[in-house]
Amino acid sequence: MRIALLGGTGDIGEGLALRFARDTDHEVLIGSRDPEKARDAVADYESILEDHGADATVKGFANEMAADRADVVVLSVPPYYAGDTVDAVADTLDEETILVTPAVGMQGDEDGMHYHPPGAGSVTELVAQRAPDAVPVVGAFHNLAAGKLADLDAEFDLDTLVVADDDGAKKTVRDLAGEIEGLRALDAGPLGNAAEVESVTPLVINIAKYNEELHDVGVKWI
Ligand SMILES: NC(=O)c1ccc[n+]([C@@H]2O[C@H](COP(=O)([O-])OP(=O)(O)OC[C@H]3O[C@@H](n4cnc5c(N)ncnc54)[C@H](OP(=O)(O)O)[C@@H]3O)[C@@H](O)[C@H]2O)c1
Repeated sequence: MRIALLGGTGDIGEGLALRFARDTDHEVLIGSRDPEKARDAVADYESILEDHGADATVKGFANEMAADRADVVVLSVPPYYAGDTVDAVADTLDEETILVTPAVGMQGDEDGMHYHPPGAGSVTELVAQRAPDAVPVVGAFHNLAAGKLADLDAEFDLDTLVVADDDGAKKTVRDLAGEIEGLRALDAGPLGNAAEVESVTPLVINIAKYNEELHDVGVKWI
């Protein structure tokens, strides 16, 4: 499969790119609004992978070209740009392309981070509203810390919660996520459950903030 990470030059994009490239046989495409920036990120990621003994190829493109080539498109952009990024690549998406969103709407104050969903109920549902009708939308990777993913020396045993209305697309993304070493992908139900999944993220960040030894903490459901 080909996995495109739109905004893959950023934090979660880097983490997912490195883990997918190291742990799976899938082709990883980095998307950016600026293809030169995507290619610079690719050079960095390939150097990190080489330092860790992984012989993996990553490619860089403009977001539209990355989405056009991919079977799975991950919207690795800040939540307030997720809708516009869907619009920018909409022509390249069809029923064969799975659109994945890890985005969470949050606002911070002196206490910590607080869940702040858009009017659609969750960013995941907003993405589903903006995506062309036939395109299956899946929410995943919301509660993972990018820093932990990007640190290839870090081992973990964590869960990610996956929501979707399309069972086939959900299974594909769960299988894909499960190929990352130490990650288990649990079914959290349909898109209507996305707010509950997203809202765990500020909780995780607050736990990391108030417990020094739990930097980049994640969740394991047992
Ligand atoms: N960071 C985490 O630990 C983490 C964990 C789980 C989920 N998430 C979610 O993942 C998403 C990305 O988070 P992040 O921390 O990786 O974000 P980020 O590093 O701040 O940004 C990611 C990328 O988004 C692109 N971008 C910035 N402004 C944009 C705009 N106006 N329009 C379109 N693209 C824009 C940039 O790529 P180009 O300049 O190359 O286009 C940037 O490198 C968020 O929605 C977040 O909620 C993050």
